[in-house]
Amino acid sequence: MRRKLIAGNWKMNCLKADGMALAKAVFDKARGDLPFDVLICPPMSLLGMVAALPHTIGVGAQDVAVAPKASGAYTGDVSAEMVRDLGATHAIVGHSERRALHDEEDFIVQTKAARAIEAGLTAVICIGETLEEREAGKALDVVTDQVRGSVPVIATAENCVIAYEPIWAIGTGKVPTTADVAEVHAAIRAELAAILGSEIAEGMRILYGGSVKPSNAKELLAVDNVDGALIGGASLKADDFWAIAETQM
Ligand code: 13P
Repeated sequence: MRRKLIAGNWKMNCLKADGMALAKAVFDKARGDLPFDVLICPPMSLLGMVAALPHTIGVGAQDVAVAPKASGAYTGDVSAEMVRDLGATHAIVGHSERRALHDEEDFIVQTKAARAIEAGLTAVICIGETLEEREAGKALDVVTDQVRGSVPVIATAENCVIAYEPIWAIGTGKVPTTADVAEVHAAIRAELAAILGSEIAEGMRILYGGSVKPSNAKELLAVDNVDGALIGGASLKADDFWAIAETQM
């Protein structure tokens, strides 16, 4: 039985005061015995401070360096080891915004995921098709290619999570039909089985991301093979984020 993971990706949002207040509010709500896992991913500027607050949930980075070493002459980069040292448990890699704005291809994403895992983090590997690819009937091919290219061979159900985020659903208020989500998630799991074996594939969580809101979370999270959500905009308000989580109580 896969435990659901409710994850917030704050993206490049929150100055110190707002970010600390948001983190504290989420940490307070998430206390106690929950039937699901929770993760928040603040921007790197706040990661250390957020992780230093008392908390009982996961805290993650939104990226890690691709550099082959944990330290060295890589100006501006932050290694997975440094992220772990701040107290983080997870790192998102290969978000579509990084793939698009920083030219991160599958091989880079795969390397970053491996760096995260080697440093003791759980890698949250993002994949997803563009609207053009969806309309051309290529969504399944694109997504399964991304799985094959982005998931490292050292991935296990414990150290890796997949997040399916159709690019056209991110920040747009549009969501795929539950049938489309089910189809893609089943294809992702089949591809994971092909590359990692069926046991690992069965245990690995596959999140859905893209305009998840309190109003649609219950339906999306009830779809077969949807093991949680990666939430952008709605994770910036503790009440909205928690209303999504509460659909799984
Ligand atoms: P929204 O929830 O704002 O659509 O963002 C989704 C996302 O990109 C999470 O990583």
